[in-house]
Amino acid sequence: MPIISFASSKGGAGKTTSAIVLGTELAASGAGVVLVDADPAGRLAKWAAIKDIPDGIEVIQSAGERSILDEIDEAASKAAFVIIDLEGSASRLASFAIGESNLVVVPSGEEQQDADSAVDTLAEVSREGRSRGKSIPAAVLLCRTNAAVKSRLEKFIQAQLRAAAPVFKTQLHRRTAFSAVHNAGAGLRQLDRGEFNGVEKAIANAQSFASEVIDMLEGQEATSDAA
Ligand SMILES: Nc1ncnc2c1ncn2[C@@H]1O[C@H](COP(=O)(O)OP(=O)(O)O)[C@@H](O)[C@H]1O
Ligand SMILES: [Mg+2]
Repeated sequence: MPIISFASSKGGAGKTTSAIVLGTELAASGAGVVLVDADPAGRLAKWAAIKDIPDGIEVIQSAGERSILDEIDEAASKAAFVIIDLEGSASRLASFAIGESNLVVVPSGEEQQDADSAVDTLAEVSREGRSRGKSIPAAVLLCRTNAAVKSRLEKFIQAQLRAAAPVFKTQLHRRTAFSAVHNAGAGLRQLDRGEFNGVEKAIANAQSFASEVIDMLEGQEATSDAA
């Protein structure tokens, strides 16, 4: 029951979208997933209400900082993966969720502001770990990126991120299919191929992101077994 949080101090970084993409992808592979909407804005809950969410996924809306730890425990007792979508600012609720996480995914675009926010968020995760006497694994997910050739600025920004934390090899490129799930509901696989471009490419992106997440979590298990 790994717990995976999506965190970044920047609104619009791609947390909710990437959390939906990961959750629906893991569920498509047969795993039970609880998605916890821990953002008072409730975007994840809104997504879940549009139409039937895929089998294997349950979405719960957190009642806030007083109950988040109980909510996480309960979710972890029944699902193979717990995915927490956090709000875009530091809060006690976010601290509690980060402290419980086996992996914190920090989405970032390729602009300097995004990179600065990602680095701030990574520092916050590291402080949370220090205050608990443990290290909390975190990695940067580049999203809303251009699938075409990289400019020098983009390479420079990616280098800054790599200096701060591991960066997923997979990027969730800027694709209509990713933003469409917010309106259409359900996952990428349920999108109407006639209506939206690039659904198959988005699914391939999502699959490789999900398998990197699983590899990262398995790598941690291997390390803790050896310890
Ligand atoms: N990979 C992507 N491709 C296209 N649009 C994206 C992608 N990721 C996020 N978006 C869009 O960017 C906006 C902000 O994303 P969101 O996931 O809500 O960010 P956050 O939860 O960090 O505030 C949304 O309109 C979303 O549809
Ligand atoms: Mg959000």
